[in-house]
Amino acid sequence: CKTVASPGRGILAIDESSATCGKRLASIGLDNTEVNRQAYRQLLLTTAGLGEYISGAILFEETLYQSTTDGKTFVDVLKDQNIMPGIKVDKGLVPLPGSNNESWCQGLDGLASRCAEYYKQGARFAKWRTVVSIPCGPTALAVKEAAWGLARYAAIAQDNGLVPIVEPEILLDGDHGIERTLEVAEKVWSEVFFYLAENNVLFEGILLKPSMVTPGAEHKEKASPEAIAKNTLTMLRRRVPPAVPGIMFLSGGQSELEATMNLNAMNQSANPWHVSFSYARALQNSVLKTWQGQPENIEAAQKALLVRAKANSLAQLGSYTGEGESDEAKKGMFQKGYTY
Ligand code: 13P
Repeated sequence: CKTVASPGRGILAIDESSATCGKRLASIGLDNTEVNRQAYRQLLLTTAGLGEYISGAILFEETLYQSTTDGKTFVDVLKDQNIMPGIKVDKGLVPLPGSNNESWCQGLDGLASRCAEYYKQGARFAKWRTVVSIPCGPTALAVKEAAWGLARYAAIAQDNGLVPIVEPEILLDGDHGIERTLEVAEKVWSEVFFYLAENNVLFEGILLKPSMVTPGAEHKEKASPEAIAKNTLTMLRRRVPPAVPGIMFLSGGQSELEATMNLNAMNQSANPWHVSFSYARALQNSVLKTWQGQPENIEAAQKALLVRAKANSLAQLGSYTGEGESDEAKKGMFQKGYTY
């Protein structure tokens, strides 16, 4: 936990399932083949100097067992940069019967043996992402199921030597204001910590991956980074014990720039936990656009990754200014009803 939550560093989330990675590749006209997924992950993970800003990388199972085209395992590529390898262990979302069109997260069956295998392969932390939808309620059933699943997973991961990242993503969908998000986030995190405690999870050995507290994506007004930081920190201070070492936010469809500015606003004064990033879309969008699947663009795409990683590293330290950002970085990535 302490390595992942080290000053000026955060997580590169590249654990898109093969289907979701296919959506990313399709956006630049590439087929969803294992070769193309490997080429893309190789581009990201072999970026020289990445370890200065990135402390952990969340991988999909396929990537944990893959190597570069030169035959070096991705796990070794990461270790050489002092980046901890992590692994997505949930099996995705399915409809939750008896709810208001909500979902639940699968993956507890066989989880202990999978975690033990992932540890042997070099993984040192895990991730489980479940979602909560504000426009769908959320119903008490959906919140309880999300919290219980996360707590069972966290206990099993710890039992097998992996640091669990606890991620109940509160989706950006909806036209509600920021106060409503704050209310739902408080409810969700209170249940999550209740069940984490009931399952005897060691709080010093977990990392959280919350959504920032923002207005719904279709709300009439946008909130400033200061308002988002104030509401998010209010929620976290009310709900998260200081024993927890790190808060690693997801980007959730925010633009690259928004995600960085909001993180910077949260680090303007000291927090009881390391407050950092675990972004997928907000670290990869301009990289993909620059790469376009062309070998001659790899160097420029790796530079684009370093630009984002460095900006978020500065935001973790509270010293990001936002100067010189590209128009691409300002583009929002929210998609209504988005599924990972
Ligand atoms: P985004 O930053 O794209 O929301 O991804 C977060 C995530 O859960 C991937 O690990």
